[in-house]
Amino acid sequence: YSIDQGSFSWSAPSNIALVKYWGKKENQIPANPSVSFTLNNCKTITVLAFAKKQNDGSFSFDLLFEGKPKEDFKPKIQKFLERVEAYLPFLKDYHFTIDTQNTFPHSSGIASSASGMAALAMNFMSLEKVLHPTMTEDYFYSKASFLARLGSGSACRSVKGQVVVWGNQANIKGSSNLYGVEYPYTIHDTFKNFQDTILLVDKGEKQVSSTLGHDLMHDHPFAERRFAQAHENLDKLIPIFKNGNLEEFIAIVESEALTLHAMMMTSMPYFILMKPNTLQIINAIWKFRNETKIPVCFTLDAGANVHVLYPNAVKEKVLQFIKAELVDYCQNGQYLCDEIGNGAIYF
Ligand code: PMV
Repeated sequence: YSIDQGSFSWSAPSNIALVKYWGKKENQIPANPSVSFTLNNCKTITVLAFAKKQNDGSFSFDLLFEGKPKEDFKPKIQKFLERVEAYLPFLKDYHFTIDTQNTFPHSSGIASSASGMAALAMNFMSLEKVLHPTMTEDYFYSKASFLARLGSGSACRSVKGQVVVWGNQANIKGSSNLYGVEYPYTIHDTFKNFQDTILLVDKGEKQVSSTLGHDLMHDHPFAERRFAQAHENLDKLIPIFKNGNLEEFIAIVESEALTLHAMMMTSMPYFILMKPNTLQIINAIWKFRNETKIPVCFTLDAGANVHVLYPNAVKEKVLQFIKAELVDYCQNGQYLCDEIGNGAIYF
């Protein structure tokens, strides 16, 4: 690559939180630590072309989404550039063409901000590496996660795999509020190829933006207790990741999902983001688990879709159950099969 022009291409996956990030301080600092599984199939692929220009004091970029100009995404990118400029001082020296696409259906209700911001951050780091070739790989990935965080908090957990922690936690070595880190301790084989089948209950636009959602945790009557609970749950997961106790894993993961929604139901203003079919699915999972003892559980993001989590060893039985009993609760019968993955890829 010359420093004058060229292009990079990175893909970055989505991720699903086990302990949820909900609430933040200034500068995208999380109010509590979170941990997630990086996904493998739901990803954003972004090509960043750059060409040197006169630094006239402003950012210059074109945005293509699935090959076509996408004006309505531009303000979000503009804001991202403003936030990261202090850390990438060369941004105004280039004109950029950002060409991006997702592997998951356009209006699936799957947030693409985590994968999208992570893929963009990786590309900008590639350019920074051309300008500063001596940086270590560790610095490269940590800073990419740092930049992704400034785009969208949870995006900082999409740079690496397979289990990523974001936020200071005394018992997790290397954890930071500023970027996500790979979970540093032993993970039991039961989590290897762990499955996430995403049931698309409501494919519409998000009812509550995560920006508004995080804001609702300011002055929330249960905020302090909730933030402390996230620390407790993350600590409880440490032995569980090691010994593979799925019963205990399930209890924490499902409780975290319901707590996230409980926070929204008890904020002012208040929201119910689940749909009737979300509850139908949750009840069907509980019944199936009780009857079969198969270790399958659910988690939720800030919406109505349900992530069904289970070990690879029970994949066939769970998929059979999903097809027989849960697909009818999905909009147009749609669901996405994903599994735990390794993070961003350069190609
Ligand atoms: O990254 P944001 O600001 O869109 O927040 C995402 C928050 C949740 O998805 C609801 C939880 C999480 O930890 O991913």
